[in-house]
Amino acid sequence: MNKSVSLDAYQKLADYYFHHVDEKPANADYERPGTLSLLPDVESIRVLDAGCGAGWYTQWLIEKGAAVTSIDFSPNMVKLTKQRVGQNAKVYQANLSEPLTMIERNTYDLIVSPLTLHYIKDWDVPFKEFNRVLRERGRLVFSVHHPFMDYTQFNCENYFATELLEDTWKIPEGEVKVHFYRRPLTEIIKPLYLNGFTIEKIIEPMPTEKYREKSPDSYAELTKKPQFLFVRAQKIMSV
Ligand SMILES: C[S@@+](CC[C@H](N)C(=O)[O-])C[C@H]1O[C@@H](n2cnc3c(N)ncnc32)[C@H](O)[C@@H]1O
Repeated sequence: MNKSVSLDAYQKLADYYFHHVDEKPANADYERPGTLSLLPDVESIRVLDAGCGAGWYTQWLIEKGAAVTSIDFSPNMVKLTKQRVGQNAKVYQANLSEPLTMIERNTYDLIVSPLTLHYIKDWDVPFKEFNRVLRERGRLVFSVHHPFMDYTQFNCENYFATELLEDTWKIPEGEVKVHFYRRPLTEIIKPLYLNGFTIEKIIEPMPTEKYREKSPDSYAELTKKPQFLFVRAQKIMSV
C-alpha cells in the first residue's frame, strides 16, 4: 500500500493553520508568491486544489473566478475549508495516495498542490491520477520541500535516498511531530515524465521584501538556502 504520513499531525494542526498560516511569512511571503507566479489566468477555469489545508488557495481561486474542487485527507482541514468558502467550492475528504474515485477523467484545466506531496511516499498514484483528471494540455503546479534544504537541515547521509524524516512544529497548544518524505531532485521530476507531463518551469524563488520586514534573520537564511521547490508542468498525453 502507498504510504502517506502526518494525518494525525494535520488533524492537530488544523486550527493553528486556519488562524495563523494566512499571515505566516513562510507561507504568505515565500511559498504563496512562488506558487502564484506559476499559475495561469484562472478566471472561468476548473481547478483542483489538491491538499487544500485550511482553504487559503481555495478561497483565492474562487475570488479570481475559478470553479474549484478541493481535497484534503484531514477531516479537520476539510471542515475549515468548508467553513471558509461555504458552498462556493466542492470540498472532499480524500487521500492523494489513493485513486480519486469521485472525480471523472478530463475534469480540470489546472491542479494546484502546494506543500502536500512530500507527505506521500510513492508518487506514481498521485501523478497517474493528476494525469487522469486533467484535460489534455492542462497544467499542474506544485511546491514541495526543497531536497537540498532537508538534506542539510536533517543531517542526511545519502542524498539519493527517499527517506522518512521527522520534524517538530511548536504551536501555542504544544509540540506536534510531523513526518514527511525527502527525495532527491530526480525523484521529484521522474513521476512527471513517466506520467504524461512535460516540465514548463522549475523555480527557487527569493522571499519577498515583506518577509524581510517581518523576519529579517530568517529572510537572510532563505536568500542563501532554498526551502521549497516549485514546478509547473503540462499534461501532454494521457497515460
Ligand atoms: C503544509 S499543508 C498545505 C496546505 C495548503 N496547500 C496551503 O498551502 O495552505 C499540507 C496539507 O496537505 C494535506 N495532506 C497531506 N498528505 C495528504 C494526502 N496524502 N492526501 C491529501 N491531503 C494530504 C494535509 O492535511 C495538509 O492540509
